[in-house]
Amino acid sequence: MTVELEPKDRLIVALDCGATEAVQLAHALRATVRWLKVGMTLFYQEGPAIVMELQRLGYDIFLDLKLHDIPHQVSGAAHAVSGLGVQMLTVHASGGEAMMRSACEGARSGAVLTGVKPPSVIAVTVLTSMGDDGLSSIGVDRPAEAQVPLLVDLAMSSGVDGIVCSPLESAGVRASIGPNALVVTPGVRPEWSEKGDQNRITTPGDALSRGASHLVIGRPITAASSPVEAARRIIAEMEGATR
Ligand code: C5P
Repeated sequence: MTVELEPKDRLIVALDCGATEAVQLAHALRATVRWLKVGMTLFYQEGPAIVMELQRLGYDIFLDLKLHDIPHQVSGAAHAVSGLGVQMLTVHASGGEAMMRSACEGARSGAVLTGVKPPSVIAVTVLTSMGDDGLSSIGVDRPAEAQVPLLVDLAMSSGVDGIVCSPLESAGVRASIGPNALVVTPGVRPEWSEKGDQNRITTPGDALSRGASHLVIGRPITAASSPVEAARRIIAEMEGATR
């Protein structure tokens, strides 16, 4: 399934900014980009209205809320936001199997209620901000490189549609979850862009060749002097890598 996607369908632009700038960028990128990522900051400030405004412009929405709570609450949250007709929704794999199953059920029931397609529910394993010391401090005594595969297996057996991971982990994740599940990777930087605060990064072409189905890219596009030109350049690089 994912192998049939065109490069343009695999690029998700992260809108980590206020609503005014997000809407300006959305207008500018309309003819070039298909997907936008709305994270907690924008969603908690603006609520469902910002999602609906971006949808009116024709975008698919990756709603990156990283749900993590008791199953009943996560089911309710997934139900509520899936009714908006978003295409992807994130949960934390560390919330456990029952929580991830509830997220999937809530996503389905919310979509059915409003007559939209349910979103793909995708699981975040270990936050890339969390090193081995951080894991140890919360009582996880195995390194991230062992914790990630454990959570990937748990997530996939809970019925989620894919995984969010670093592009440096994506080849292993792809090998373990098969060709059809989603592998969504942030931490992508074209050679010509600033690295910013991202350390464990790779290029768009490399991320695709390591098994990513979708790339999340923010500042190389949103902070560029011409976001449209930057997005076109990245899509051209992705086309080169998938040919
Ligand atoms: O601007 P940049 O391309 O670094 O943005 C990457 C996006 O991916 C941001 O929205 C960031 O929150 C998100 N992200 C990340 N690393 C993770 C998970 C999500 O950079 N491990």
